[in-house]
Amino acid sequence: MADNRVFIFDTTLRDGEQVPGCKLNTSEKIELALQLEHLGVDIIEAGFPISSPGDFESVSKIAGIIKNATVCGLSRAVQKDIEVAGEALKGAQRPRIHTGIGTSDYHIKGKFNSRREDILQRAIQCVKWARNFTDDVEFYAEDAGRTDNDYLAQVIEAVIAAGATTVNIPDTTGYCLPHQYGEKIAYLINNVKNIDKAVISCHCHNDLGLATANSISGVINGARQIECTINGLGERAGNTALEEVVMILKQHKGLGLYTNVNSKMLNPISRLVSETMRMPVQPNKAIVGANAFSHSSGIHQDGFLKDAITYEIINPEEVGAEQSKIVLTARSGRSALAYRLQKLGFQFNRNDIDVLYGMFLKIADAKKEVVEEDLMEMAKQYQLEA
Ligand code: KIV
Ligand code: ZN
Repeated sequence: MADNRVFIFDTTLRDGEQVPGCKLNTSEKIELALQLEHLGVDIIEAGFPISSPGDFESVSKIAGIIKNATVCGLSRAVQKDIEVAGEALKGAQRPRIHTGIGTSDYHIKGKFNSRREDILQRAIQCVKWARNFTDDVEFYAEDAGRTDNDYLAQVIEAVIAAGATTVNIPDTTGYCLPHQYGEKIAYLINNVKNIDKAVISCHCHNDLGLATANSISGVINGARQIECTINGLGERAGNTALEEVVMILKQHKGLGLYTNVNSKMLNPISRLVSETMRMPVQPNKAIVGANAFSHSSGIHQDGFLKDAITYEIINPEEVGAEQSKIVLTARSGRSALAYRLQKLGFQFNRNDIDVLYGMFLKIADAKKEVVEEDLMEMAKQYQLEA
């Protein structure tokens, strides 16, 4: 395993599907799983097999179809859950069981009415049990973000000794600041015996809008797997957006980290997920939003038209997006107007553009956006009057 490869663990079909209104049927899950494999993700979390017969069916069908990626099923630290996950994954080329338990005192006391020692034993038992079904066992320490670091280190050391090959450190409630999450990962690396026997995974939620930043901080500090979803779908405010972490690592080559994801598929798969899950993508969403490559203010448009690099750090082609757009609003300038008129086949000189710009501003002040039809009409009127 290359040290600087970051594994992409896609959980669109599990954490993403937990979003109200995003429920998928088996054929929709299979279609998305095939596209995720094509995208180049390393692990597909296909579902939570014990949660419903439908999800069991989806996970086992996906397990039988996916050839290259690891197929993962979620379970709680409950023997029956693990057995059902093992059963659903039976046909997989590379099956992974993802099992775990809450480790913060909020969970230990509030959810389980238990004690740290007992939770530690359950963590060890669930990993040992899961190892009866596969050698690829990932343990999650739910709410690790709010778990005391000493206790977390104790749990992680024990589950690695019990056979966990990946250890997931979820910031389940999206609470951590990036430096705190990074320090947590560094703490585990420095304090857990045999930590190098397992891959450390980041699973960050977006309650404070920090999921992506926290995941990146995690890998900078030594984690080598990111759990994420297409379009950042996930419980509450969502999960880390796959397209964002992939492009951050690609843009910041100085970090020396990379993924196997084919970035040209990011926009097509974002649209597919949005349509299949009936969940629109916000226009200003990084990488895949409708405005991610649109320029509307005069200063930006002028710079962009002279040299795209002035206002674009990514070439839209690299992420499979449509060409950059010059949108005309009352904040747009003369160069943008001239450019758009030229695209419609009109050749005007500087003086013409000065007059046309006055006409344009009147329309733009009255409308949110000046569209092609407005430009055609305006240009024809100008030609008639000239
Ligand atoms: O957010 C979380 O902690 C989870 C776990 C089940 C991994 O989704
Ligand atoms: Zn989650």
